[in-house]
Amino acid sequence: MSCFITFEGPDGSGKTTQIQALYDDLVGEGYPVLLVREPGGTDIGDQIRAVLHDVKNVDMMPNAEVLLYSASRAQLVGQVIRPALETGKVVLCDRYAESTMAYQGYGYNLDQELLKAITTFATGGLRPDLIVYLDIDVEEGLRRKEIGFRRGKGEWNRMDQKELDFHQRVRSAYLRMAAAEPERWFVVDATHPIVSIQDSIRKRVKRLLGEKGIGRTVRSHGRLGEEGGTNEAHR
Ligand code: TYD
Repeated sequence: MSCFITFEGPDGSGKTTQIQALYDDLVGEGYPVLLVREPGGTDIGDQIRAVLHDVKNVDMMPNAEVLLYSASRAQLVGQVIRPALETGKVVLCDRYAESTMAYQGYGYNLDQELLKAITTFATGGLRPDLIVYLDIDVEEGLRRKEIGFRRGKGEWNRMDQKELDFHQRVRSAYLRMAAAEPERWFVVDATHPIVSIQDSIRKRVKRLLGEKGIGRTVRSHGRLGEEGGTNEAHR
């Protein structure tokens, strides 16, 4: 039994803080967990990330952008995510295919069916069991991200520079996708206090792990099995 959980949200929604907190909780409780991020998460993916996020690359065509995000994803799924799921790990991924649907698909108004086909090709059809979506007003999110960046947290990348309308289309796309598949999406209000967000995500994830019959393999005070938390591919 394995479990694949992704985190999504507009820029500045605090998803990276929350995914790290969930990872720490699950590892502390002895679950076998792997934490990765997109784009990147592999050596090849990190090189693609550098091209994608370089603020100098303002001329990048939307189609090229889709293919680069998808190439990074294909590498991550094949090299890291699938092998981890095959050994029964809980895999947490900071952004996944739904980011491409929201940012490239709705942000640029690209053909949704074509995008789905490219994503299926890149992932071999691997979809998350649960998508945790942190919802935040776009201007508030960008404001938070900019403040964080000025304080030395995170990066200010090429995507952050897109106009406000673009980011607003991204947020509405997320809300639309979540409404269409409520059993797969867990929507959280990202303006709530950090600790209460953390608590509600933990409860939802523990319910899923229980439903899937996934247990702990390691006790915090001693190993019961071979598996443990690995954070190798994360920033
Ligand atoms: P990152 O610095 O990792 O920030 P965040 O904490 O917001 O995830 O930047 C990832 C950026 O890449 C973010 O602006 C969203 C964008 N992105 C896409 O546009 N399409 C995609 O498929 C993915 C995975 C990310």
